Amino acid sequence: MQFREVVRRRRITRRYSGEPVEPGALGRVLDAARRGPSAGFSQGQAFIVVTDPERRAGLAALAREAEWVARGFDPWVSSAPVLVVPCAEPDRYRARYAEADKARSAGPDGWGVPYWWVDGGAALMLLLLAAVDEGLAAGFLDVDDRDGVRRLLGIPSSVEPLGLVTLGHPAPDRRSSSLARDRRPLEEVIHADGWQAPP
Ligand SMILES: Cc1cc2nc3c(=O)[nH]c(=O)nc-3n(C[C@H](O)[C@H](O)[C@H](O)COP(=O)(O)O)c2cc1C
Repeated sequence: MQFREVVRRRRITRRYSGEPVEPGALGRVLDAARRGPSAGFSQGQAFIVVTDPERRAGLAALAREAEWVARGFDPWVSSAPVLVVPCAEPDRYRARYAEADKARSAGPDGWGVPYWWVDGGAALMLLLLAAVDEGLAAGFLDVDDRDGVRRLLGIPSSVEPLGLVTLGHPAPDRRSSSLARDRRPLEEVIHADGWQAPP
């Protein structure tokens, strides 16, 4: 698929058919996710791939799916055959930036922008786009109860779960209320040669 088409088709999909994800396709999607940029090539990203039905149900509960379904939304998380929890590992950045060639760039508390959040977003986007390229669909949602996610999946306190990716074959879904708004036009988000205040 042409890159432009992949970008155009990508959207947060909130319901999946029962069709399983072919292991080869899943492998390629995950491989794409580790090919993003990372500050100092620290590569402080990890992906917990959850296919076990009990653990998937546990994640759906932590995402308070039943409450959303009671409000008329689709069973988003539980319909996805594969869930991925992308994680950031800040300690890998701290270790990398303590190395001789990086030591002056950022100290333990010297992060202007903590790079692991930036790089985690880049990895997430690759994962979402690679899913489309495989003819799959993917979604991303925040789970407020991050401690619950940590407990369920045994994530150590030094590792930061970023949210929850849903992956599968798409089924018709109810669009988010967020989509009542339009995508901001290009000319509104581009600032030529410096920040331009809105007219
Ligand atoms: C950091 C982040 C958190 C999000 N959390 C949720 C969420 O909790 N529930 C939800 O329905 N969508 C969530 N979304 C999806 C956005 O609503 C969606 O990206 C936006 O409406 C634009 O739609 P599109 O991505 O389908 O083009 C999240 C997206 C991001 C990037």
